[in-house]
Amino acid sequence: MEKTFLMIKPDAVQRNLIGEIVKRFEQKGFKLLAAKLMTIPEATAKNHYAEHKDKPFFGDLVSFITSGPVFAMVWQGENVIETSRTMMGKTNPQAAAVGTIRGDFGMVTHRNIIHGSDSLESAEREIQLFFAPEEIQNYTKDIDNWLS
Ligand code: TYD
Ligand code: MG
Repeated sequence: MEKTFLMIKPDAVQRNLIGEIVKRFEQKGFKLLAAKLMTIPEATAKNHYAEHKDKPFFGDLVSFITSGPVFAMVWQGENVIETSRTMMGKTNPQAAAVGTIRGDFGMVTHRNIIHGSDSLESAEREIQLFFAPEEIQNYTKDIDNWLS
């Protein structure tokens, strides 16, 4: 079953939004496989955002994402990569639909609340970058039988 890497960014941790955001993915029916509150080392941040290394915002992005704790998570479920991106909303919170996480809680692109993997390849890469295999749980729930 598909997995994705989701990360509540330092702005949302500071604004007490961890529970609200986790609640949305739980209620949707996705399964939490791993989670930890952590401060990202600079080298890990640069690796995570390597695709943006030549963009003008790269330095500020790395500074922001390492500025305080993030809540890193692995979630599993049918089509979870695309559906979680839909639930997050557009990168710019001002363009993100009301009802999405960024649309409801964000104000500006450089503090946009949450990260989510955008493809199978990035999900695999990001999960490996942030979690050791033994940190990722493999378990069943009775509710699994009611979702597909
Ligand atoms: P990107 O991968 O384009 O967006 P997403 O997070 O939706 O996949 O960009 C990564 C992050 O970089 C984005 O969440 C916020 C930051 N960013 C800026 O600060 N300024 C910008 O102009 C863009 C495009 C992104
Ligand atoms: Mg991206």
